[in-house]
Formats: sequence, structure tokens, C-alpha cells
Amino acid sequence: MKIAIFPGDGIGPEVTAQARRVLERLDLPRLVLFEGDVGGIAYRRHGHPLPAETLEMARASDAVLFGAVGDPSCDDLPRAMRPEQAILGLRAELGLFANLRPATLFDGLEELSTLRPEIARQIDMLIVRELNGDVYFGDKGIRTLENGDREGWDMMSYSTGEVRRIAELAFRAAQGRRGKVTSVDKANVLETSQVWRDTVIEVAASFPDVTLDHMYVDNAAMQLVRNPGAFDVVVTGNLFGDILSDQASVCVGSIGLLASASLGERQTEFGTFGLYEPIHGSAPDIAGKGWANPMAAILSVAMLLRHSLGREADASRVEAAVAKALADGVRGRDIGGSAGCTEIGDAVIERL
Ligand code: NAI
Ligand code: MG
Repeated sequence: MKIAIFPGDGIGPEVTAQARRVLERLDLPRLVLFEGDVGGIAYRRHGHPLPAETLEMARASDAVLFGAVGDPSCDDLPRAMRPEQAILGLRAELGLFANLRPATLFDGLEELSTLRPEIARQIDMLIVRELNGDVYFGDKGIRTLENGDREGWDMMSYSTGEVRRIAELAFRAAQGRRGKVTSVDKANVLETSQVWRDTVIEVAASFPDVTLDHMYVDNAAMQLVRNPGAFDVVVTGNLFGDILSDQASVCVGSIGLLASASLGERQTEFGTFGLYEPIHGSAPDIAGKGWANPMAAILSVAMLLRHSLGREADASRVEAAVAKALADGVRGRDIGGSAGCTEIGDAVIERL
């Protein structure tokens, strides 16, 4: 089991150091860890935010654990040399087409949610967002009309093949959860959504143990805050997923607690190749202070164990240890406590 760790910038190295300790503590057979440079640090050391040797390391691994990239001292560099290009480049080069973001409210953290506690307590969902298609990647442009108005356009499209692979991934994820998929589209007005919906229905036939329902995106946005308990796995396109996943994250609270996975098609000896990272950035405002909450990075390790290494029991163990630490009152500064980064790492490891 080869894991490439890319700590990156700002608090990235601080939180991934704790995540690495957790991974090492699990005593996985034949675990090999190696580290590579990404982001601003990679630019300074190698002249590029995603050096060729880092990319090679990712390709040679079974999974990547990513910290965060972003460095204010690189603000004046041309766009292609900015630290953020490292994550975009990795997603493109590694064919990572699915973004998974779990949203779960840990016991006792209801006060962090923007929702009423009795509603917040119901949240336990996984948003599966398609990453490589949709309106972000279609033909686009700006033209001047005869009357002098400017007009912008972006073409939205999904092919059956693109929908099929993300839908299959969502159904497989639902099999390991509560067995329900909600497909979100806008099939009442968009042809793209009609193809999306037809294809998801076709894929559902191969997963008789999973129930499927469909929801228009406007209604989904409403139900997410009205009745979040109705969702288990939500599968949707790039644009709708971008919006709904951010909405779901404020429903559960701190940015320091949320993990994500980006999965591709490559199957390894152990599972699906993927890249795992906290959803937060490099947090330059607190970098180097030892205040960063490493729980999101640690929960990214749990996702890595589940999806790329086929180690569900270890994944659950890590998640339970984080939940226990929170229940015991271990709180970072981001959630009203005073525990530091290493202290939180210690607390989770003690409870593994
Ligand atoms: P951010 O997520 O880095 O920080 C937002 C706020 O949340 C800050 O006040 C920060 O101190 C706090 N915060 C974030 N993570 C935390 C943690 N683990 N524990 C405690 N507090 C935490 O977002 P921001 O400030 O918009 O971006 C900073 C840099 O990160 C930028 O260069 C941005 O481009 C980059 N970024 C990189 C991402 C990635 O690597 N995938 C994702 C998002 C932003
Ligand atoms: Mg977003």
C-alpha cells in the first residue's frame, strides 16, 4: 500500500503531520509512505507548483493524501505558476472525476450548525459531485451583439458515459451506507438533465439493493435545510454539486472538520485510486501558530482507508476516534475550544 503525502502550504504540513501519525498508528500491512512538494513550496524549491516528480509519485501510489495549497507571497505570479494550480493539475492529470464530500454532524456540535439543533442532528449524507464535465468545461465565450450589448455563454452538456461512471460510483457508495441515492437535476427545463436522469435510472437497474429518487435542484436546496435527514447519498453534476456541497458544509459547522475525496477510474490492488484532502485551504492567517484543527485531515485518512485501501473497519475506527474526542470535549479554536494541532492529534490517537 503506497500512499503519497503532499502537505503543501500554510497549515497543510501541520494538519497532514497529524493525519500521517494516525495512519502510521493503524499498523497497516506493507504500508509505504512518501512525501512530495506541491503548491508554493514546490514553486520555490522546483520552479513549478506541480513538479513532474510529484506527479510521478502520485501516479505510482495507491492514494494521495493532500494538505492544502495557497501562499499569499505567490499572488503576483502568473496564473499557471500559482500554488492552486497544483490541485487543479492533479485532478486533471489523474482523471479524478468524482468529488465526495461527507456531511455529518458530530454529537454535541449542534451549536456549530446554521440549522436548528433538532434538524441539524439528522444530517448524515454524502454528496457525490461530478468534476470533469458540465457547464464549466463546455464551449464558452463573450461576444458583442449588434446593439452593442455584450453577451456571455457557457454550454452545458453531459454524455451518457460521463453520467454512468459517476452514477455507478454513487450507487456503490450507497451500498456501504443507508442504501439510498438521490439524483439532483433540473430535468423539467434542461436537456442535459434529461440525459442525466435517464442514465441514472438505467444504472439503478444494476443496484436493486439501493433505492433511487430524483429531485430538482431548487427543491434539493430547500430540502437540504428543511429536512436534511431525507438524504443519504446525493449524486449531481458539477455546477449543482459545487453549490449544494458548500451549502451542506455550513449546515454541519466548522471547516476544520470536513474531509473530501476525489476519485478516478483507476482500480488498484486494494480499491479505487483517489486523492483525499480537507476542504479547507492553507489558512495563512493561522499558519505556524499550531492552532490548526487537524480533524478534517484525519477524517480524510478515514476516507482514504475506505475508498482506496478497502479497509472499512479501520476507516470506521478513525471516525469513531474523532467522534469520541469531540464528545469528550476536545475542541480546536475553530470550534470554540483551545486545543492545538498536536494536542488534537494526540487525543485522536489515544482513542483509536
Ligand atoms: P481557508 O480554508 O484557508 O481559511 C478560511 C478560514 O478558516 C481562515 O480564517 C482559517 O484560519 C480558518 N481555517 C481553515 N482551516 C482551518 C483549520 N483546519 N483549523 C482552524 N481554522 C481553519 O480559506 P481561504 O482563507 O479562503 O484561503 C486561503 C488559501 O488557501 C488561498 O490561497 C486559497 O486559494 C487556498 N485554498 C486552497 C484549497 C486547497 O488546497 N484545496 C481550498 C481552499 C482554499
Ligand atoms: Mg465551492
